[in-house]
Amino acid sequence: MKKRRRIKKSVKQFFVGFIIILILLIIIISSIVKKINYRHTYDYKLSKIGYSKEEIVEVKKLDEKYIDKLLDKKYNKMIVKFIKQKYFIFSNLDEYMKYYKDSDNDDLAYTVTMVNVKANNDYYDEDIVKNANIKDGNLILVNKFHKLNKDYTPDDLVDVSIQYGYGTNKLRKEVYESFLSMWNDAKAQNLSLIITSAYRDYDYQQSLWNNYAASKGDKWADNVAARAGYSEHQTGLAIDIVTYGSNMDNFENTDEFKWLYENSYKYGFILRYPKDKEKITGYSYESWHYRYVGKEVAKKIHDKDITYDEYYAYYINKKD
Ligand code: DAL
Ligand code: ZN
Repeated sequence: MKKRRRIKKSVKQFFVGFIIILILLIIIISSIVKKINYRHTYDYKLSKIGYSKEEIVEVKKLDEKYIDKLLDKKYNKMIVKFIKQKYFIFSNLDEYMKYYKDSDNDDLAYTVTMVNVKANNDYYDEDIVKNANIKDGNLILVNKFHKLNKDYTPDDLVDVSIQYGYGTNKLRKEVYESFLSMWNDAKAQNLSLIITSAYRDYDYQQSLWNNYAASKGDKWADNVAARAGYSEHQTGLAIDIVTYGSNMDNFENTDEFKWLYENSYKYGFILRYPKDKEKITGYSYESWHYRYVGKEVAKKIHDKDITYDEYYAYYINKKD
């Protein structure tokens, strides 16, 4: 009897020991597996390159394809500062870093904007200039880095009735219709909108720029007029608007301007070259130049208070 009890006891002890060892083994193995798995996480890989816990939180907000690309780059404390910027575009990261360093400015948002719109380059730089994308339709971007062919003419230009402007003018059909609806609503408020310039072909733009350059020099001409092929007026989507008794120079002080400033987006038009955005647009402030982009986009641009160059870079043309 005693012997049998002893055997029972040692079986029990063996069993308990076995369970304890098993549990310990499971704990050890699972901690090893955990460690191995951790080495495959972004937290581990990013911290290994040098990112802090706080920075990793920011980096992990990016799409995985971008985090993978970051892993190939050397750590730099500026990277996360740029990632946190509202209009950050990953493919521009290296250029942000370079422009920030070279231009000696400490404004990150400004750096991001300038690089996004390519204004960190020289205007009309042949290596940077691209053909404007005709397929963008009403949303085409034409500026000092996006040009039109000499022979580009919109295929749906219509004549503007003489009552709406000085001289003869043409616009794309949809733009003209939207302008008329804007004109009528302005008229109902006792305001007169007058077109001074609308569609301009390549040759006309060239003579315009040449005249400015001849009278006040190339630099001045470049601030106020596009070189041939680089003008929105060649798209048939841009209108210069003034009113009776005002010219371009004092249009800003009129009630018509104030009304347009607050309402033009409702008809699909944006103020294309706003005040204090000269470095972004490449042109002096033009209170008279309105660009048709359609109602939906015009409202977005109005609400976000950004230029079309910025909108296009971030919302239309963003690349991986
Ligand atoms: N004045 C504008 C910039 C143009 O010439 O197209
Ligand atoms: Zn204009």
